[in-house]
Amino acid sequence: MTTLVMGATGAIGRALVAELLSRGQSVAALTRDAGRATGLPGGVEVRQGDFRRPQTLKRALEGVERVYMLADPDVAHTVAESLRQAGVKRIVAVVSAVLDERDARGRVRNVIEDAVRGSGAEWTILRPRAFASNAVTWWSRTIRLHRGVHWVYPQARLSPIREADVAAVAAAALTEDGHAGRTYMLTGPESLTQAEQVEIIGRAIGAEISYHEIPREQAEEVLGDHGIPAEIIRKLLDTLEAAVDTDAQVTSTVQQVTNRPARTFARWAAEHVNDFR
Ligand SMILES: NC(=O)c1ccc[n+]([C@@H]2O[C@H](COP(=O)([O-])OP(=O)(O)OC[C@H]3O[C@@H](n4cnc5c(N)ncnc54)[C@H](OP(=O)(O)O)[C@@H]3O)[C@@H](O)[C@H]2O)c1
Repeated sequence: MTTLVMGATGAIGRALVAELLSRGQSVAALTRDAGRATGLPGGVEVRQGDFRRPQTLKRALEGVERVYMLADPDVAHTVAESLRQAGVKRIVAVVSAVLDERDARGRVRNVIEDAVRGSGAEWTILRPRAFASNAVTWWSRTIRLHRGVHWVYPQARLSPIREADVAAVAAAALTEDGHAGRTYMLTGPESLTQAEQVEIIGRAIGAEISYHEIPREQAEEVLGDHGIPAEIIRKLLDTLEAAVDTDAQVTSTVQQVTNRPARTFARWAAEHVNDFR
């Protein structure tokens, strides 16, 4: 029984591939460009495909029964239909609350979740809150260059989750029974301001890191340089603004599903010192 990991070259996907292999699973790794899929463990079959071009998924899904699914909202239903046609029996999908929308009656809905729930397969939805790895995307370049971050809302509180913990929950949902029809809200174990996260990274690399608060418009430019669409940038910055001086939600779902607690941000930073040095 083969499991296809979409986003296998990404932060969660790489950790998930390793976790599934350690559980003795047969794993196929999806990427848009096999030439970039370096550093994946031996024993993984790299398959090429692009979820924005569903016809490319057909070959990638040959012989696949379980899928760790990523998608964008505008193609989510097409991707779910491709999985249905390929006979996929179990889907574990990661979705972002930043993509939530309100319908005409004001109810919150998420297009990717709707597509997965309507796929006909057994499904589990993972809703991780902020990833610890956002610190690499947002801050690593300037920390490496001059021991500083230029970022918004230092007092915004988040409960950053380590990618390996999301992967551990995904692996459990893909390989064990009892997770079908469940939606898991995943967080790290503590509510931390962004300024505290930067201090923790500083302690991990043994350096003092300054936090220069920048206006929102400048953060929009930084995120735009990472290729993030304007609408997502707006929602992301709205989320951070709303989190200023507000305790972040902390759940115990990682502990409940994997039988061990979610790891701290300090532990994550210690694992990632090379990204910041
Ligand atoms: N950052 C957060 O705080 C946060 C919170 C909640 C949820 N999320 C969601 O979590 C998901 C996974 O994040 P991550 O950090 O593991 O990923 P990531 O490190 O950002 O990497 C993105 C992955 O998606 C793949 N990908 C992108 N477009 C694709 C396409 N059109 N077809 C096939 N594959 C494609 C890339 O594969 P190739 O480049 O190899 O093709 C890559 O492996 C994302 O969907 C994100 O929206 C993020």
